[in-house]
Amino acid sequence: RNKTCVAIDGPAGAGKSTVAKLVARQLGLLYIDTGAMYRAVTLKALREGLDLTDHEQLTALARRTKIELVPGAKQLVLLDGEDVTEEIRSPEVSRHVSLVAKVPGVRAILVEQQRRMASETGVVMDGRDIGTVVLPQADIKIFLTASAEERANRRAKELANKGYTIDIAKLIKEIEERDYIDSHREVSPLVAAADATIIDSSNLSIDEVVKEIIKLIGNP
Ligand code: C5P
Repeated sequence: RNKTCVAIDGPAGAGKSTVAKLVARQLGLLYIDTGAMYRAVTLKALREGLDLTDHEQLTALARRTKIELVPGAKQLVLLDGEDVTEEIRSPEVSRHVSLVAKVPGVRAILVEQQRRMASETGVVMDGRDIGTVVLPQADIKIFLTASAEERANRRAKELANKGYTIDIAKLIKEIEERDYIDSHREVSPLVAAADATIIDSSNLSIDEVVKEIIKLIGNP
């Protein structure tokens, strides 16, 4: 029985999900992408044309939404049973997700689900508030960051691979805006936990970051 619990937080585009997936695979832990959950709620809110400043409506929406993260090579995300794995990564969702994620009621609902998932098995969970709020008892906490330019470049490559055309200056601006909202919201702002190890991945390869984390887990 492996109940190791790894928390990986950091700003957009620092490489959290790539790294978290690899660490989870190497250690045989379940990977949980909490950003995907906020993205799924945001997609549904956009589809329903909700006012994204209406906290009550957004909280009610989160309550009547079923999100499933299907483990496996493809890490499917199901929104009320529908496969939205690709759609939740669209620029449209990225531009609006921070507005939905700052709603306290939405967070309360998703955090409860995240804790429940982590109570059943060992996990690597990535997000913004995992080490501070969701799993403060995590065995190891990583705060993964990188310069805004480097993060925008990585996102640009990802989006280009998916066929989107990008304006890199606009992408940097959008990433900075999202980080600003995430870092300055009242509830669970993006901040490194006091006991987190900070890793700046600007000049590190994915492999180097993964090795560093595995090493830390070996001697926490
Ligand atoms: O990790 P990802 O970039 O997919 O997260 C999308 C957005 O979801 C973040 O910008 C943030 O607003 C929100 N989020 C959050 N708390 C988490 C994970 C994501 O507020 N634990």
